[in-house]
Amino acid sequence: MAKKKLSSFNPLQEKGMALDKQTRSWSDLTGFQYDKQEVHPYTRTRIIAMNGIEVDAAIFKHMMARMTTDPEVKKAIAVSRRIEQQQQKAVSGMIPGNETTLENTIGYEQVAVDLTAWCARHEPDSYLRQAYDFALLEDFDHLYRYANMLDMQSGTMKPEHIVGKLTEIMPGRPTVSEHRHPMDSICRPMDIKTAAPISLLNVMTIVAAEQQTMNFYMNVANRYEDPILRGLYTEIGMIEEQHVSHYESLLDPSCSWMMCMVMHEYHECYLYHAFMQQEVDPRVKKIWELHLDMELGHLQSAVELYKKIEGEDPAEFLPAEMPDPLTFESNIEYVRQVVEAQVQLTADGADFVPVDSLPRDHRFFAYQAEVNAGMVPSQEVIKKHVSKHKQDYRFETAPHPVSRFQDRKDVPEY
Ligand SMILES: [Fe+2]
Ligand SMILES: [Fe+2]
Ligand SMILES: [Fe+2]
Ligand SMILES: [Fe+2]
Repeated sequence: MAKKKLSSFNPLQEKGMALDKQTRSWSDLTGFQYDKQEVHPYTRTRIIAMNGIEVDAAIFKHMMARMTTDPEVKKAIAVSRRIEQQQQKAVSGMIPGNETTLENTIGYEQVAVDLTAWCARHEPDSYLRQAYDFALLEDFDHLYRYANMLDMQSGTMKPEHIVGKLTEIMPGRPTVSEHRHPMDSICRPMDIKTAAPISLLNVMTIVAAEQQTMNFYMNVANRYEDPILRGLYTEIGMIEEQHVSHYESLLDPSCSWMMCMVMHEYHECYLYHAFMQQEVDPRVKKIWELHLDMELGHLQSAVELYKKIEGEDPAEFLPAEMPDPLTFESNIEYVRQVVEAQVQLTADGADFVPVDSLPRDHRFFAYQAEVNAGMVPSQEVIKKHVSKHKQDYRFETAPHPVSRFQDRKDVPEY
């Protein structure tokens, strides 16, 4: 691929690697694993994020195949789906076997915090920005709950070392108060015809990342014997279900399968291009470069298929220019401001309102009473840490921005 300036990168004008050149051997797919002590925290988060994107690419194409009657389209997506699966294996295979599931989980929640914060900061649409800020505070709290669990396990890495002190670890919106009625997880959708290109890409990124977090917790909760840890993955897994519902409801539902197929490939090009630019580990950078070249090939073939089947050029709905690259970077100040201003919010239908503005007979309180009856794992984990170590585990650069969360022996619910 020709080297181009960021602003002038237009994936539609690149040929990329031909699809019939993209199949890799088993040894190509099982290359190196990063060193968990040495890896840059944002290299880890880029790997976790791209694994989620590739899982989404494969699952999307399976869903599309099930809804497609044209055998030609079915075969075409089977070909590129096989490549997406190989890419997913190559990406997730960079995570070393000696990084524990809980250590990796800290990386997942760091992805959720810093990726969502970047998207919110670069989001021109105020409703979308509000939707991102809202759920950001919940993943921020998940990071704190899992970090307290990890800190009680011997022989594991310190949570602040995993996040590289680039992300703070302290209470956000307490997980116990995040459980809302399912009808309050549906937002207002965007309109692809009027949305800014960055808005389309941001929401696709967050949906895929949250969906992968949901999938991950769905499958690892039963890998533990400790009832608090099993419970913590179960409880937070249910919030990730809310988050996927929340974020996917922002997508434009009028997009056809064919349109979504082209958008998915464009989106993969966008992210590999972004991560290739910022990657500090040369071995990982090589993977991002290779995968970008492959995705450009996927995009070409998706565009050709679209033109043939729909008789139109996808250039009409794709952005004329690639928006600013999504960047993993520290968002400490931004997250602090959002915690301070929005920690007390909940959702009422598609709106975000202070929890104390809800009438007592709101479905939120009934749902809370049902799921939080008895022990609440996200509260138990902090109580256990306080009883063992006299206070909770945190990594803070300054006192907590909300005064009621400053007492490190207390475990408030709201
Ligand atoms: Fe891919
Ligand atoms: Fe989370
Ligand atoms: Fe989440
Ligand atoms: Fe792709």
